[in-house]
Amino acid sequence: MTTYTSSWLCPSNIALVKYWGKRPEQLPMNPSLSFSLKKARTRTTVNLGPSNLRRLEFLFEGKESPFVARIEKYLDKLSIELPWINDFSFEISSENTFPHSTGIASSASAFGALALCLADLDRQISDSEPEGDKFLQAASRLARMGSGSAARSVYGGFAWWGKSAVLKGSTDCYAIPVSEQIHKSYFSLCDAVLLVDSKKKQVSSSAGHELLSSHPYRESRISQANQTIEKLYELMQADRNRMAFIDLVEQEALSLHALMMTSTPSFLLLKPGSLEIIEKIRDFRQQTGLPVGFTIDAGPNIHLLYWQEDQEAVRAFIRAELLYHTESGAWLDDRVGDGPVKL
Ligand code: DP6
Repeated sequence: MTTYTSSWLCPSNIALVKYWGKRPEQLPMNPSLSFSLKKARTRTTVNLGPSNLRRLEFLFEGKESPFVARIEKYLDKLSIELPWINDFSFEISSENTFPHSTGIASSASAFGALALCLADLDRQISDSEPEGDKFLQAASRLARMGSGSAARSVYGGFAWWGKSAVLKGSTDCYAIPVSEQIHKSYFSLCDAVLLVDSKKKQVSSSAGHELLSSHPYRESRISQANQTIEKLYELMQADRNRMAFIDLVEQEALSLHALMMTSTPSFLLLKPGSLEIIEKIRDFRQQTGLPVGFTIDAGPNIHLLYWQEDQEAVRAFIRAELLYHTESGAWLDDRVGDGPVKL
């Protein structure tokens, strides 16, 4: 039996409208919109060798990792539709291009990279040639089965995941690229990730999504997220109102945290440092008139969003006012990226 190999570098992404809440099998409660990052990426290589029994060896940055259990479950799930998975031994090695002790979620880039390898191996083994759109759709679908947000990571620029009446071709099954519809000025958005606390999250994303199922604000959240994504998408097709963009993105991020605070059980993930940074960003915006804002995932770290043309002023502001509130002055300097690369 032949051996096969595939290797991909896949970015993480940051959601402007968040995926929060899911239905089986990893289908989102609401559509989400994100951009891929340029620097925060995962490099993964999958080597398949002949074997009667599936075996899995997984090394993360050269060492054994507990993530192996999640990959094992993932391969189990996928083997129903990709039965060749059971006919090989898997050697998977993976590394991140960003420090993993930072508390930055890497499941999007991790499952994005792994899914791209699997979709690539599938076309090698089945001798089929889905190219371009079809290949990336297949990879996005596989990525979604591992981690919802990973569905959006297989594209560069901006991606949309989840069915919506306002976007033709949108589906809950996989993400689609929307870069062509987004105004070019948004491609110079930068993301300064301010690391407030690198400790492990109190609530895993999966447990967090679960909290929405019985949440008293569930229906309002779903309708609010739909309205927000529609407004944001419309705004981003032109470069007329950056402040309105910033306002919507901040409101969306704080809605996610409001949901967590009012869930049962309740989770307060923002730290005093997160709140200090939020207030300072808002003061800075008011004083300078620059379109600078933030988004936040399910954790305490603040993603400061700004346009590249304002970089000098924003960096001086980060150094002078914000780093003090981070964990040992730590931040990641990232921006909109071009998407995955086959190695
Ligand atoms: C707050 O994709 O990590 O980052 O599907 O359970 O793996 P699972 O969840 P995950 O959730 C991401 C939640 C979020 C928002 C987002 O990225 O859209």
